[in-house]
Amino acid sequence: MIAETFHRQAGRLFCEGVDLAALAERYGTPLYVYSASAIRRRVRRFHAAFAGLPVRFCYAVKANPHLAVLRLLAREGVGADTVSGGEIRRAVQAGIAPERIVFAGVAKSDEEIRLGLELGILQFNVESREELARIDLIAGRLGRRAPVALRINPDVAAATHDKIATGRRRDKFGIPWEKAPEACREANGRPHLQLVGLHLHIGSQITDLAPFEQAYGRLFHLADQLQAEGIHLKRLDLGGGFGVRYRDEEPVAPERVAALIARLLGQRELELIFEPGRAFVAEAGVLLTRVLYRKESAGQKLLVVDAGMDALLRPVLYDAWHEILPVVAPPHAPQETVDVVGPICESGDVLGRGRRLPRLGRDDLLAIATVGAYGAAMASGYNSRPRPAEVLVAGDRADCITPRLEPEEVMARERVPAWIDRDGEVAGGGDGRAA
Ligand code: LLP
Repeated sequence: MIAETFHRQAGRLFCEGVDLAALAERYGTPLYVYSASAIRRRVRRFHAAFAGLPVRFCYAVKANPHLAVLRLLAREGVGADTVSGGEIRRAVQAGIAPERIVFAGVAKSDEEIRLGLELGILQFNVESREELARIDLIAGRLGRRAPVALRINPDVAAATHDKIATGRRRDKFGIPWEKAPEACREANGRPHLQLVGLHLHIGSQITDLAPFEQAYGRLFHLADQLQAEGIHLKRLDLGGGFGVRYRDEEPVAPERVAALIARLLGQRELELIFEPGRAFVAEAGVLLTRVLYRKESAGQKLLVVDAGMDALLRPVLYDAWHEILPVVAPPHAPQETVDVVGPICESGDVLGRGRRLPRLGRDDLLAIATVGAYGAAMASGYNSRPRPAEVLVAGDRADCITPRLEPEEVMARERVPAWIDRDGEVAGGGDGRAA
């Protein structure tokens, strides 16, 4: 948790100049709260570290796709790394120019490819030779030339959670590294493609420089090999993956990555792209949740709160550890060890086990830290609970940027076919015939 953003005054937790308990009162819980200045500070730190290098940042929209977050980043001069037509549309809507948008993803549909081509995005990061053929075909039909970068699988294992490692041979991403030259030749020979570069992304929440160095080294080497064959590339997209501190991790300082890049780049005339997601936004967010009940199970004290895996999936999905702290520190309460559990009807719905907290009870508030990335973005409506509202704080002001999504709004989109109520009728026609 960043001390300059989240701090206590008289025992109460603040985000910048805003009292978090007051926000919870006003907008209800669970509630995501983001600090605009924390996001800006992170981006500026990266820009400063890479100053003088031919580097641009395309924020991985998936980390936090909110339009206000994207707008804030657009104003900082950041582009977008997108993985769907929906993300492309978000980026454009937030004012990110198409020529600052890259489009990745293993399953681009024809419609998404057309959207990218019509908008004139910077490049398609292509995952397979079949996809090359598909983009070539669609670009031909539209009378365009598609700028493509081939995503390489460098076969590098980074120390991170198994489910968020992407650069090993067995992962589904990219073209195996030794097959890359052949695929590049193919891309270069197709009439409606322009091979502009290579891409890789080896995983997420990586806190060690070594795997980046190994993977980047392979990509630069490949670029040299292609250059020697007469295939000239404009740029290398080195992906994202920079870790943040959830507990006691020591993230790689951007300055160290910049020094590595300066060394690898040497005199080559290549542009570089990075696609940070988490590193820009994770630390800027907290999730506020209210205690509903206390109970004991097998001698373990449980605090039952109103946010669960529907609001924050990371603890269940990746065994992720997020700091949990009281929003108002009760002055003389004794400390105790508790499991903080959510309301969802699944045993896995635990936000944190064995946490030391002051004794809290009904209506007390907790803040779950470092959830600005992959928090709200991965929330679901499971158990038909409302989706959390989101608030953006800047100095003393707080704006609600997403109201709670109530079950009524979700139900309003659902249709109940009339045949269900008609006696004796057999369903079979589907839409149109049955109703
Ligand atoms: N570029 C590509 C091609 C990616 O697949 C990703 C993340 C990124 C960039 C951004 O990675 P970052 O800088 O945020 O580490 N839901 C998981 C993380 C999944 C990341 C997927 N790809 C989590 O909550 O940890």
